[in-house]
Amino acid sequence: MSTPTTPETVSTSVLIIGAGGAGLRTSIELARHGIDCLVLGKRPHGDAHTIWAAGGINASLGSLDPEDRWAIHAADTLDEGHFVNDPTAVELLCRRAPDRIRELEEWGMPFDRTDDGTINQRYFGAQSFRRTCFVGDRTGQALMDTLVQKAMDLEVPYRENLYITDLVVENGQAAGAVGVDMDGGRPVAFDADAVVVAAGGHTSLYRRSSSRPDENTGDAQALAFNAGVPLRDMEFVQFHPTGKVTPAAEAGHLVTEAVRGEGGRLYNTEGERFMERYSPDQMELDARDVVARANEQEIREGRGTTNDAVLLDISHRDADFIRERLPRMVEEFAEHGVDITEEPMEVAPTAHYAMGGIEVDFETARTAVDGLYAVGECTAGVHGANRLGGNSLIETIVFGQVAGDHIARTLSPDASPALSDAAVRDHVATQDTLAAAEGDHTPAEITDRLRDVMWKHAGILRNEDGLIDGLRKLQQLRADADNLSVQADRTSRRYERAQNVRFMLTTAETILRGALERAESRGAHARTDYDEKNPAWRQNIRCVPTTEGMEIAFQDPGRPSPSVQQAVDEEHELDYHHLE
Ligand code: FUM
Repeated sequence: MSTPTTPETVSTSVLIIGAGGAGLRTSIELARHGIDCLVLGKRPHGDAHTIWAAGGINASLGSLDPEDRWAIHAADTLDEGHFVNDPTAVELLCRRAPDRIRELEEWGMPFDRTDDGTINQRYFGAQSFRRTCFVGDRTGQALMDTLVQKAMDLEVPYRENLYITDLVVENGQAAGAVGVDMDGGRPVAFDADAVVVAAGGHTSLYRRSSSRPDENTGDAQALAFNAGVPLRDMEFVQFHPTGKVTPAAEAGHLVTEAVRGEGGRLYNTEGERFMERYSPDQMELDARDVVARANEQEIREGRGTTNDAVLLDISHRDADFIRERLPRMVEEFAEHGVDITEEPMEVAPTAHYAMGGIEVDFETARTAVDGLYAVGECTAGVHGANRLGGNSLIETIVFGQVAGDHIARTLSPDASPALSDAAVRDHVATQDTLAAAEGDHTPAEITDRLRDVMWKHAGILRNEDGLIDGLRKLQQLRADADNLSVQADRTSRRYERAQNVRFMLTTAETILRGALERAESRGAHARTDYDEKNPAWRQNIRCVPTTEGMEIAFQDPGRPSPSVQQAVDEEHELDYHHLE
């Protein structure tokens, strides 16, 4: 608690908050244009949540299925997003994905190859063709290694262990940000001409999540919301069908979709391949929301294991093939005595991805606040109500390039406001107050209770009564969070968690409010009291910040372009059974 409170001040042209795929790709584009920028990461360089992405990255290369094309990729993305995606975002994503993949290839990303040397592609859920490029089941790690190396080659400056607590907006324009250097505990004020938020998702709000527990705590969404930017479609939270259930310390961690993409089958404890009942045509490769709800239903109806899991089995495939395609899964399960080449894995749904987030214009990555941009999982619009596996990694690099390019071409330092001393003082005073708080509730306790509320009330199945109850509990959590016990140095995990709580409560409220508002079931938003999709709800729900808190607004998502609509009308669909 004796940490110095006089802030260090740092100036840069473009401040990038978040050092995963989206932040790094943005920085690379800026550096290629010769624009000065600074990348901030909460963790050591190269360690970002992107490394946890496993199974692959999508682009319609047509390596194995030459009939694939970008418009069919877009049609699949819209179809599985239940047409509340931003059609411009989807079109940009799918058109540009092949170029971004070839660029990664040039930068040395070691993609798996076919026998003739082209980039190999695997099946992933709800995609009409094999379009998921991969590096075994460590694709996110390989992507990060490639981007970190490229950023280092371009001498992109980076600060690690840096936690941003507030964005600073002066006269309606982004002026910079204030944070804490978690190595020394000193506050840091960043003065910047433009600020890019690329700080990931929020699924650590949930009891069982594929995220690391101290990451994906909704920082990005709350930072932007507190700065005056609307959040959109927050009710759409993806539950991945296959998370681990044991050991307890790894519960929720991902069992990659690549297991099913390479032929894995789901069984209940009665030995039934139950996807025959839920999705006889697409089976285990139906959309994630469909497979996740099927797994959940089997478990709830008593056909799961004693660990509340169903069984995922790939042991019918050749053991060498499994070791080559799924090395990480083989290794991780072997550590706990399970040989997946011989026996099934226990799996259950886990919170995995935020489809909702910061509202942006995807052609520029701009938000509603001048000079403030957002990229990657923290944004809303590409994925609609349900994301295709493999579309998240490609989103980071497509829109990172878009953001970097747009900022480089339009940056106008003279028009940017200076960071005022008064604003910095206020934000640092808030940090001081939090560090010294002497209340009755620890950050860990509030976090724990919040995770239970979100899992129970805004989880894989929701209804009106549960959501209202969830909002009531959230009010109590907010009151208790105002009576927090921190008394910790700003270098401590306890202080970091106290900051996380601020963000988590804000982000959680937008999820609960959006989910209560959307009186239908659509994609990952499954309401037991409205179990059908309602065409009147083909709308985006916006949580707009106001001086009193927030208000809900609605927006028409727009329609696909004629070329994408034609691909939608062609009704491409994977027929699973021809794979067997
Ligand atoms: O299952 C997976 O490997 C996840 C991929 C993704 O979410 O894109």
